[in-house]
Amino acid sequence: MSFEITIDSIGQSVPVREGQTVLDACLRAGIWLPHACCHGLCATCKVQVLEGECDHGEASPFALMEFERDEGKILACCATAQSDLMIEADVEEDPDALYLPLDDFLGEVVEARMLTPTVRGLWLRPDHALQFQAGQYLMLQVPGVEGARAFSIASAPGEALIELHVRKVEGGAATTWLHEQLKVGDRLAFSGPYGRFFVRKSGTKQAILVAGGSGLSSPKSMLLDLLAEGADYPITLLQGARNGQELYFAELFEQLAEKHANFHYVPVLSAEAEGSGWTGARGFVHEEMKRRFDNDFRGAKAYLCGPPPMIEAAIATLMQGRLFERDIYTEKFFTAADAAAPARRSPLFKAI
Ligand SMILES: Cc1cc2nc3c(=O)[nH]c(=O)nc-3n(C[C@H](O)[C@H](O)[C@H](O)COP(=O)(O)OP(=O)(O)OC[C@H]3O[C@@H](n4cnc5c(N)ncnc54)[C@H](O)[C@@H]3O)c2cc1C
Ligand code: FES
Repeated sequence: MSFEITIDSIGQSVPVREGQTVLDACLRAGIWLPHACCHGLCATCKVQVLEGECDHGEASPFALMEFERDEGKILACCATAQSDLMIEADVEEDPDALYLPLDDFLGEVVEARMLTPTVRGLWLRPDHALQFQAGQYLMLQVPGVEGARAFSIASAPGEALIELHVRKVEGGAATTWLHEQLKVGDRLAFSGPYGRFFVRKSGTKQAILVAGGSGLSSPKSMLLDLLAEGADYPITLLQGARNGQELYFAELFEQLAEKHANFHYVPVLSAEAEGSGWTGARGFVHEEMKRRFDNDFRGAKAYLCGPPPMIEAAIATLMQGRLFERDIYTEKFFTAADAAAPARRSPLFKAI
């Protein structure tokens, strides 16, 4: 059975299949509804149903409260139509967005290797070219695991292979399989591109990329993309890791910093043993960022990617250093763990 979704503000209708989410139907039709986690956790995709019935699916009770459900609000990434729908939604308009329609792919694993003791790098050859903007992510299907999992793309747009960095989560169904079972030659289904965490090129005078944990993927893709396009303004990558073993691609970034005078690479270790010989920065990445920029971030665009607590701390630092919300872009690696807790969101910051 299929229904129709009409987006009131633009007067456009799209078909939706049984079981297909409202967001999926819109993105495939090239209608770019705001979204971020695609897992019912962040509330970015909240829209108002004006007419029709929906099933809320896996929407977290914290991201979509009971009274909001009573008011007819839904999370488009989880809700499925039970009838024709009329929705009121802010369709994204961003001068830097390409609004690339969502598509399905099959990727052959051509390389898989450990990048750190907890992060496995995967390189997939897609059956047809995936067009995306640096910073976006895909949703990967893992055999035997219900639902898809989000992974940010670490390769730059235009590269033949798609690179992913997968951190193994204790007891995590998908990440354990990707670490322990996946082998070269396997084929994995995925869809993409997703997300509005992509590099803004217009009007940028300075870019600050902040990566924590396996959150290096998007910043790496953005950096390679900007350097390949000849961006000539200052670009700083701050990479936070617990210790030297968890720091990956450091050599690549050091080489790039030698080659490009406008690129600065700042690795920061939070739990490196004293006396290890590490001569770089120690502590948390937001603290080092504050020191390096003398607590003045005016004129920059900042991209933050990684675990929610790191992002919260970096947002607070940037805003104290006079960077406005409109110039801060974030990608939080929400997980099933976040469904059980109210979203940890800076009271200073509206968007995620
Ligand atoms: C937009 C986006 C982009 C992402 N990009 C990446 C990426 O590039 N690389 C990457 O490694 N991950 C990334 N993630 C996170 C990744 O999707 C999750 O780690 C993954 O969904 C966990 O799946 P799983 O099946 O292994 O765990 P599940 O089986 O879903 O969870 C198992 C258990 O572990 C808990 N859990 C799950 N994840 C975590 C965690 N990270 N920390 C602590 N506890 C957890 C759950 O609450 C549950 O109890 C991204 C997430 C989002 C939303
Ligand atoms: S995108 Fe729907 S809740 Fe995050």
